[in-house]
Amino acid sequence: VRQVEIDAYGGLDVLQIKEREDPAVMAGEVLIDVTYAGVGLIDAILREGMLPLPLPFVPGLEVSGHIRAIGEGVQGFKIGDPVVAMTLLRFGGYASVVSVPAQSVLSVIDGVDLKTAAGVIVNFATAQFILGDLAPVGAASRILVHGASGGLGTACVAIAKAHGVKQIVATTSSPAKTAYLKSIGATTVIGVKDLKASLEAEGIDLQFDIIIDPVGGDLRTESFDLLALRGKLLIVGGAEQGEDIAFSSKAIWLNNYEIIGVNIGGMSNAEPARVAKAGSIVLDMIATGRLSAGPIAVLPVEEVGEAHRRLEAKEITGKLLLQF
Ligand SMILES: NC(=O)c1ccc[n+]([C@@H]2O[C@H](COP(=O)([O-])OP(=O)(O)OC[C@H]3O[C@@H](n4cnc5c(N)ncnc54)[C@H](OP(=O)(O)O)[C@@H]3O)[C@@H](O)[C@H]2O)c1
Repeated sequence: VRQVEIDAYGGLDVLQIKEREDPAVMAGEVLIDVTYAGVGLIDAILREGMLPLPLPFVPGLEVSGHIRAIGEGVQGFKIGDPVVAMTLLRFGGYASVVSVPAQSVLSVIDGVDLKTAAGVIVNFATAQFILGDLAPVGAASRILVHGASGGLGTACVAIAKAHGVKQIVATTSSPAKTAYLKSIGATTVIGVKDLKASLEAEGIDLQFDIIIDPVGGDLRTESFDLLALRGKLLIVGGAEQGEDIAFSSKAIWLNNYEIIGVNIGGMSNAEPARVAKAGSIVLDMIATGRLSAGPIAVLPVEEVGEAHRRLEAKEITGKLLLQF
């Protein structure tokens, strides 16, 4: 197996490509010959040691490719099947061969290719899990999505649109991406400075039923004040990597707010079928033309450092993959 290993926290130079012995397929798992591995900001956060993992480790939350071997007790797959998998439990996606628990593996159905499947599986499944399961949306839901031009942000906008939501407000620190965000379904796009004033200038009520926040910091503090009665604030990440913040429990109590943490990895450990269902819904929506995957850029695995650089420089719109 060819894999990207991190054996010390740090900058781009800690991403090392190593040749190791192929892993064996384990009981209850399938062994996948990887074609594409997804790159996400979480990988850069882990590389820097902001959320320390035991060293050494291979980053990567998602892969697509073909089944090479099937472990004991696994049913429903055959060798050579095209599949997409969430490697959320122990990371390890940046590898040419990977063994994944079968419950986190989905068949790549007709109408979806391997690149699209790897490009959508984690971010779009997370978005579908949020908007279809944790905070189910309807046409009348008033939604605010932060970090909208990122992988998870674009997925949330696109999934909200696919569910027929009429008001999807997106914030972005990259104003050049406004036209793109509107093209995928955002009804209003605003900057991250002076949130309330920007919303008022657009004639938008300062009341949201669902706020999705992968960024944190001041945006999170301001978002709390923008919740409608019974509003849900979904804390899904910390792209800004700033200080943690606190909320008023009294305000949560009196306004029936729901503050919901979303960690798709932890959820995939606790309830894999629920997460896989969200993934299947996404693949089906793409295959039937109800959802567009958005831009997916591909770099050869040798350019993994460049991939992390682009991500941290916010140069990516949509999803970035490594090809093996
Ligand atoms: N909870 C989960 O299960 C789950 C699943 C997937 C991702 N995530 C989390 O969601 C966050 C975004 O992940 P992603 O893969 O979507 O990343 P990404 O593609 O790099 O997008 C991150 C976006 O956040 C915004 N941003 C604001 N401040 C930033 C900063 N200082 N550095 C970089 N980006 C900044 C940018 O959007 P604008 O330019 O539009 O502001 C950027 O495009 C991460 O914290 C990740 O861990 C969580």
